[in-house]
Amino acid sequence: MALSNFLTELDALLDEATDAFAAACDAAALEAARVQFVGAKSGRLKAVQKGLGKVDKADRPAAGKRFNEVKQAIESAHQAVVERLASASRPAATARCVDPTVPGDCCRLGRLHPITQTIEELKEIMGRLGFSVVDGPEVEDQWHNFEALNIPPDHPACNPLENFYLDQGSAGGERQGDKETRRQGEIAATASSLSPPLPVSLSPCLPVSPSFLLRSQTSTVQIRAMERMRPPVRIISCGRVYRPDTADATHYPMFHQIEGLLVDRGVTMADLKSTLRLFARSAFADDVHIRFRPSFFPFTEPSVEVDMSWADGWIEMGGAGMVDPNVLRAVGYDPEEFTGFAFGLGIERICARRHGIADIRELFKNDVRFLHQF
Ligand code: DAH
Repeated sequence: MALSNFLTELDALLDEATDAFAAACDAAALEAARVQFVGAKSGRLKAVQKGLGKVDKADRPAAGKRFNEVKQAIESAHQAVVERLASASRPAATARCVDPTVPGDCCRLGRLHPITQTIEELKEIMGRLGFSVVDGPEVEDQWHNFEALNIPPDHPACNPLENFYLDQGSAGGERQGDKETRRQGEIAATASSLSPPLPVSLSPCLPVSPSFLLRSQTSTVQIRAMERMRPPVRIISCGRVYRPDTADATHYPMFHQIEGLLVDRGVTMADLKSTLRLFARSAFADDVHIRFRPSFFPFTEPSVEVDMSWADGWIEMGGAGMVDPNVLRAVGYDPEEFTGFAFGLGIERICARRHGIADIRELFKNDVRFLHQF
């Protein structure tokens, strides 16, 4: 056999053996490769060695020398993989190993609560119509929640059982009869059965001096804004309001309202209607209709209920009307000079309408499987 053929065969064997060892990912695979290439009985190196005797005699020393070099190279390639596998099985090395086939850890991104998303969009829409955003406190006094809004102290809306008055720690309050006590118990049970429960100090109580309460409406912010500003006033305010209602698919003791107020010279009902129509079209769809039904609120005259078309019917979104002259007087505006409109809409209803949510209680359970849909 010519020397060159022998050497070519040796080199090919070295390449194949090195590749096979390198590809071995565990001890069993490495052992199989070892037997195949350097096995004492039928290894391929053994077979090549047999060819050594057939090399021309003069070339045999050179062939033998190269054979030994290749044999050593194959053995050290084998040894290198033995060491690689041994170190891979040690814990520290395992940590460094990257298995690209393992599915990635996917961390869920947080997102805004659907109510917050709705509020942000409503602010955006009203901002485009020139309304600026103002805020007011959730703990209110009687003046801003009732009196300045033309709601006299004996009005049913001020009833302690319809509001979350703050317990200011006074003792010996006047009892209002067994029936009311029972109702109060029911309300307190509702408050504590909610998840999360309302803090005890915020539970409904029969106040001795009912001066502070959790606001029952965002209309309070109308007063606070007008106390600070001179007309033209063009504001909205979004936030939480509280009423001791039993929670059901459409009620919750805490919910959100968007309040709007525009006071200027020559403001009319037509401005109210066109503003609400533009609002509804931007918030829902171009073909949404709104309708007004006559109603009564102490702080508006005339007053209306605002409905929006939904499927084949109408849903009630809230109340609106022309600001009552008494309210304008309460904040020092001259009702002969200025007129205004106001509206207050339920944000849960808007949110539910947009997302097809059938039960608003879902919005407050904090179940990420639900919230993740929005
Ligand atoms: N504050 C009323 C409520 O909570 C809603 C409302 C009605 C707000 C008429 C207004 C309004 O601004 O003009 O039921």
